[in-house]
Amino acid sequence: MKKSSVVFFSLILVASAIILYSCKKESYSFGQNPEDDYNEPVLPSEKYNYAKKHGVNSDLATLGRVLFYDKKLSGNKTVSCGSCHKQQFAFADNARFNRGADGNELTRNSPSIQGLKGFKVDGIDTINGVFPNLANQEEVLLFWDGRQHSMADMVLNPVVNHKEMNMPDFGTLIQVLKSTTYYPELFKKAYGSEEITQEKIAFALQGFLACLNTDKKNTPTSNDAFAVAQAQLLADAKLTEFEKAGKRLFHEKYNCAKCHDPLAPVATTVFVPSGGYQGGSTPVVTTPTGEKITFMFDIGLDMLPKDLGLGAITNIGGDKGVFKVPTLQNISVTAPYMHDGRFPTLESVVEHYSHGINNTKTLAPFFRNLNGSVKQLNISVIERDAIVAFLKTLKNDDFLTSPLYSDPFKKL
Ligand code: HEC
Ligand code: HEC
Repeated sequence: MKKSSVVFFSLILVASAIILYSCKKESYSFGQNPEDDYNEPVLPSEKYNYAKKHGVNSDLATLGRVLFYDKKLSGNKTVSCGSCHKQQFAFADNARFNRGADGNELTRNSPSIQGLKGFKVDGIDTINGVFPNLANQEEVLLFWDGRQHSMADMVLNPVVNHKEMNMPDFGTLIQVLKSTTYYPELFKKAYGSEEITQEKIAFALQGFLACLNTDKKNTPTSNDAFAVAQAQLLADAKLTEFEKAGKRLFHEKYNCAKCHDPLAPVATTVFVPSGGYQGGSTPVVTTPTGEKITFMFDIGLDMLPKDLGLGAITNIGGDKGVFKVPTLQNISVTAPYMHDGRFPTLESVVEHYSHGINNTKTLAPFFRNLNGSVKQLNISVIERDAIVAFLKTLKNDDFLTSPLYSDPFKKL
């Protein structure tokens, strides 16, 4: 063979390999490959002990796990919650924008759902199928724009949302679930009766989401100062000098911790007190220690934001470009970053804070000098790398791989 034709054929081979690879990735990414999956969930003979690990009734969490991963919850049976919220990506996704059941792209990046509160398990009576009054649930800030405050309402939103799962209505959904071989039994175990209702679906999903949390031992609440200090010491002992330097930059010199959880950079979803939000239109939440803090900010991503965030909900100019502070737990696996997934790497995120902040009217005061000019953080390359090295330590492999949170419909 001539040299030129060898080159030509190698190019063709490489090109077809790339095309084949990207097709495979595409179909996997949206979970629309039914032949890869079981039609019924495969559950362990001895049920997983969610009660011990997370304080959530194990039968309830098991039902929630099945619902979370079941594509039958979508109109055309192609999408489950787990299609966009994937365990290996800490229940976010590596796609910038996911596609819903109607095949169209969403306009926001799928957030990592972990460490979300808003679920009280007290008072659940599985024998009589009585479950807590949903009105009594704690409120949390949900979605990038914080528009939803109730987990119970939230979990059902995607199901009938035509962009995400496109189920015509809950009556249809309940019929679909009833006609399966497995739901009547799962509901019976969780609630003591086979009857399926919208509230029971919501509560079970919520129960499973409440388990999507790194081990309690490692994430003490901020009002338990001693436990926090202990956990901090243990965590520090495991860090390299470079990671420790990054941690100091994060907590001290650049004070990222001002917004990303002051004590330990864990989930920033904080309880909203029963009286609701106080202060201006930007939600002010109360931490478990009683401190009042704002958890939504404009970090100057765009001079003229296309997505107005909180501003689109409140219609107040001062809320334009204001978004919820996301959790940094497992942040190294949740790329791309920000509400619109604009940054592909953690380095590019830090570059933004270093010199990319726009002088918007609504910019968080944190990023202003006393004279009102924008305070770019001017982070050096080595500091940037140290901060990124520290952020990468916030990964919990058990959470990303444990069968407790895995897809029971997937063939291994
Ligand atoms: C097609 C992709 C897709 C599907 C399917 C989907 N979600 Fe989401 N989810 C998203 C996106 C995108 C957002 C952020 C939307 C926003 O902020 O406006 C989100 C937000 C959330 C949040 C809020 C997280 C936070 O930190 O505020 C929760 C909780 C959640 N989804 C749970 C679920 C559950 C439960 C299901 C199944 C019933 C589900 N999602 C199905 C894409 C999806
Ligand atoms: C004034 C509050 C504030 C400060 C200070 C701050 N952040 Fe953020 N951070 C936010 C908000 C709000 C978002 C989400 C913005 C959006 O998506 O529009 C965010 C997003 C991020 C993300 C992306 C998370 C994801 O899931 O997409 C990372 C990583 C991050 N910040 C790291 C840092 C680091 C490192 C520093 C310090 C150099 C820092 N932040 C300082 C408020 C802050």
